[in-house]
Amino acid sequence: MESLRARTGKLYDKPVSGERKYRLGVLGSGKGSNFVAIADACRAGRAPAEIALVISDVAEAGILERARERGLRAEFIEPGKFRTKLDESAEQAYIQALQGAQVDLVVLAGFMRILKGEFLRAFAQRVVNIHPALLPSFPGLEAWKQALDYGVKVTGVTVHLVDQGIDTGPILAQQTVPVLEGDTAATLHARIQEAERELYPATIAELARRAMKPTRN
Ligand code: GRF
Repeated sequence: MESLRARTGKLYDKPVSGERKYRLGVLGSGKGSNFVAIADACRAGRAPAEIALVISDVAEAGILERARERGLRAEFIEPGKFRTKLDESAEQAYIQALQGAQVDLVVLAGFMRILKGEFLRAFAQRVVNIHPALLPSFPGLEAWKQALDYGVKVTGVTVHLVDQGIDTGPILAQQTVPVLEGDTAATLHARIQEAERELYPATIAELARRAMKPTRN
C-alpha cells in the first residue's frame, strides 16, 4: 500500500493564504448535526475555516434549514435518476457549484450517495467523510449496529479521506467509544454521534490550520 503521506499529500500541498479562511463545501442528506457542530466551531473561531456552501440532494433536508437559519448559502441540487449515486449531469452541477464557491475542502456530513470518478478527480484528496465505527472495521451502513451485533467492546468514529471504495480512504483521525453493558443500537448510536460532533470539527480545524501554515521557501 502507498504511504499515508502519499495518499493524503494533496490535502496539504496547496497552502491557503493566511489572509483568508479555509473554505468548506458541506454535502449532506439528513438532519445535519455534524454540519451544525462544524459550523459552530467555525463561528466560534475554533477552526480557521468558513462554510462557503452547503448542498443537499434532498430538498427538505434539515441540513439546508440549519444552514439557512445561520445565514449560510444552502442549495438543493437534483441528484438525477439513480438512488445511490449522482448521475452525470448532477455530478457536473455539484462540481461546478463547489468550484464556483472556491471550496478548499469538501466535507461529507451524512451525504447518502457514493461519489466517484469525475467528482473525486475534481477534488483529489480533498473530500473527507465521517464514519460511525473504527475503520477498517464495520464499513457500510448502520456501522454501530454491526459493532453491537458482532460483540466488540470498543467501537468509535473515523474521519477519512474519500476514495473510490466504500469507507476505504486514508484515515485522518479516530476516536474510541466504549460499548457498554446493556447498550441498545439506539444508545450506542447516540454516544457515537456525540463523539462525531467532537472529532469532525476538531479534525477539520487541524486540516485548516495545516493548510493555512505559511510556506517556507
Ligand atoms: C452521521 O451520524 C454519520 O455517521 C454518517 O451520517 C450521519 C449524519 O448525521 N456519515 P447528521 O446529518 O450529521 O445528523
